[in-house]
Amino acid sequence: MKQMMIKSASTSYPIYLGKDLLINLDQYIDPTYSSILVITDQTVATYYLDKVIKALKQFPVNQVVIEPGEQSKSIESFYDIHTRAISFGMDRHSLIIALGGGVVGDLAGFIAATFMRGIDFIQVPTTILAHDSSVGGKVAINHHLGKNLIGHFYAPKAVIYDVSTLHTLNTREIRSGYAEIIKEALIWDEAFFNDLLLTNIYQTDDQTRVNHLYHGMRIKANVVQKDEKEQDIRRYLNLGHTLAHALEQQLGYGQLTHGEAVAIGLLFALYVSEDVYQNKHAYQPLLGWLKKHDYPLTIPETNVNELIKRMKTDKKVVNRHIQMVLLKSIGQPVIKSFTDREVRDFVTLFLADLEKGIYT
Ligand SMILES: NC(=O)c1ccc[n+]([C@@H]2O[C@H](COP(=O)([O-])OP(=O)(O)OC[C@H]3O[C@@H](n4cnc5c(N)ncnc54)[C@H](O)[C@@H]3O)[C@@H](O)[C@H]2O)c1
Ligand SMILES: [Zn+2]
Repeated sequence: MKQMMIKSASTSYPIYLGKDLLINLDQYIDPTYSSILVITDQTVATYYLDKVIKALKQFPVNQVVIEPGEQSKSIESFYDIHTRAISFGMDRHSLIIALGGGVVGDLAGFIAATFMRGIDFIQVPTTILAHDSSVGGKVAINHHLGKNLIGHFYAPKAVIYDVSTLHTLNTREIRSGYAEIIKEALIWDEAFFNDLLLTNIYQTDDQTRVNHLYHGMRIKANVVQKDEKEQDIRRYLNLGHTLAHALEQQLGYGQLTHGEAVAIGLLFALYVSEDVYQNKHAYQPLLGWLKKHDYPLTIPETNVNELIKRMKTDKKVVNRHIQMVLLKSIGQPVIKSFTDREVRDFVTLFLADLEKGIYT
């Protein structure tokens, strides 16, 4: 098992990363909690809920099982789970466990942040993507006008990451998660990026996966520890996300997974970077790798003006200019402001190139 501490200005918490951690989950939990609420989704519940409940038998435990998918990060499920938490008799010494992917983690974390003005929660990620969402303390639900617009910075007490759960992920979820690992490598570590380019993500063994996840989380931790509240370098973690969020919203959640949208967003960020800095670095190699792994790269008919409008409702907008993270080179991110018109031109060219299969 690997372990690391996340330290930031306001808090610190451990991450445990290894095989078969769920069966001994209670070992990582303070025995004095008055009760535990496990929040999970239907898919994860069928595989792992019994195991978790069994491991927590020394506690009074309640459970809430939500529908899988982004639509559950809603004000309705937020309110409904609060109602249930109150009727379960939970108090300020209760603990919430988020058992699942980023959807469960973000929703359960935001409930923990707000229930009786905040109770403890523990992240138990079960997707590759959740290596990212479970670290850093960002919790949120969606507003119909934008993703993650209602939220908080609220760190978990611990992250307990059992990689054995990743065996039941389908290929789509594997590639979704790896897009965020690629992102971390791009902003921080060229050698890691090159290593990933040589990896077939559908054929990695547990040990390789642990190494990739550890490396990705380490990068995220380094960034977050220096800038918990996203004043500064934490914004680098948004590489690829301005377009990704707009695409996810425009196409409707579920058309593309978050990571699939991020993969297209990363490609776009590299496309713009190569143009702005007049250099060729990661666009072609990344494109080849994404194609090899069957990432969806063509976008169904898209209204570019709508996309730009959505990019402007993103939280990263400053003075009405769209802020994008670009790369001067791999491991050297920078933030750059663009006018609507500039972004519209880039998006139009990029989408046309993807459509035509012209990748230069
Ligand atoms: N808070 C943050 O810093 C942060 C960072 C990145 C992403 N996010 C959020 O994370 C969310 C996406 O996370 P996600 O991709 O994990 O999505 P998800 O939670 O919807 O999980 C993806 C799918 O995999 C299923 N699943 C989960 N674990 C499984 C397992 N072990 N075996 C089989 N199936 C399993 C789920 O039921 C779901 O259908 C988005 O809402 C995004 O905004 C948050
Ligand atoms: Zn993301």
